[in-house]
Amino acid sequence: MGNKIAVGLLGLGVVGSGVIRIIEDHQKKLAHQLGCEVQIKRVLIRDPNKDRNVSLQDGVLTTNPKDVLEDPDIDIIVEVMGGVDEAYEHISQAFQAKKHVITANKDLIALHGPALEKLAGQHECDLFYEASVAGGIPILRGLTDGLVSDQIHQIMGIVNGTTNYILTKMDADGATFHDALTEAQKLGFAEADPTADVEGLDAARKMAILARLAFSSNVNLQQVDTEGIANIALADLEYGKQLGYTMKLIGYAKDHDQSVEVSVQPTLLSKTHPLAEVKNEYNAVYVNGAAIGETMFYGPGAGSLPTATAVVSDIVEVIKNIQLGATGRRVTVPQFNKGAAEPNQCFSQYYLRLQVGENEEVFAAVSKLFLDIGIRLEKTVQKPGELILVTESTSLENLEQIKQQLVQLEHVNGIAGCYRVEGEEGQ
Ligand code: HSE
Repeated sequence: MGNKIAVGLLGLGVVGSGVIRIIEDHQKKLAHQLGCEVQIKRVLIRDPNKDRNVSLQDGVLTTNPKDVLEDPDIDIIVEVMGGVDEAYEHISQAFQAKKHVITANKDLIALHGPALEKLAGQHECDLFYEASVAGGIPILRGLTDGLVSDQIHQIMGIVNGTTNYILTKMDADGATFHDALTEAQKLGFAEADPTADVEGLDAARKMAILARLAFSSNVNLQQVDTEGIANIALADLEYGKQLGYTMKLIGYAKDHDQSVEVSVQPTLLSKTHPLAEVKNEYNAVYVNGAAIGETMFYGPGAGSLPTATAVVSDIVEVIKNIQLGATGRRVTVPQFNKGAAEPNQCFSQYYLRLQVGENEEVFAAVSKLFLDIGIRLEKTVQKPGELILVTESTSLENLEQIKQQLVQLEHVNGIAGCYRVEGEEGQ
């Protein structure tokens, strides 16, 4: 290895240029930690004519992947180009050439993480992807190193900055969904196509990765019950606020021993819950473990330099492993293949906003229905034409049953809003 270790970058966008800057700015500290210099030897780009905000020596940039993947001096490949198929192809080639891989690519890891980890192991290579979840928060290492001795039961996360920003603005300023989204795009948090943010898919990918590592189970993306924020009515934000909640897009993961529950849903969170204070584009992951109890990781979930710190920390870890002769030995391939939890295993409180006719009997009829099915109502608010209810903790199966029966009641015209409620004490 000598006194220099060569790194090849695939991609030079927001994260790639941040990686170059962190390596430059923190070179002395890194050299002290590692006893060697980290050198960006080749960088794969798509468009050689694009202006780039980084200073690199002549001959470093290339448009030919082979110049990076087949360079015998390069030990570590950093994939920050995004997309799935091409990135998968390049990473597989890197392993075959015995190069270690770091990626920030949540789409790729959510879809193919376990397969790539297996491939890495077969070639005695390292694969790290700290930057794929919650950018600047070292949550993956938090789970796989810091909390490795504990049994993690449950994770709740705000893992998408765009939607958190939108919901914060809707809640605090009464902004419309579209105005808040336009602002998030201007500020650069949203993906180029914000559909994945808004529909919850970006958060679902991150939750699949978190659940996999926390529960060592092969959680796939289809297992994540996903709902976005585009249809949230300001009325539900407002009623939620009056009842002591704040609306957040919450990723929820729970280990049920034989199965795993993972969802991403707009959730009314009690204002007393630590995640309720996470505002604007910030991310946070709240972890519940058998020994640790509750702990929360908070920070920026996106952005060039925060995300690049995660990538460069992975580079440091790989180099230390190379120095120790310990590459390819990380045990993050999932141990179990637990399926998705059944609706009768998934419990939560629920908020329901019913549209009702102006009839004195309707509240009594609705209350009786809940009583008959055995679900206590914790909060009820009657408004002209609307009935707002918060249930005790009940199963998703019970919720579906009661929703079907509610709409059959005379004077109940429909269910205008239905949200999971989390964070109430004693639930
Ligand atoms: N679009 C993502 C977000 C970027 O808003 O959180 C970081 O993955």
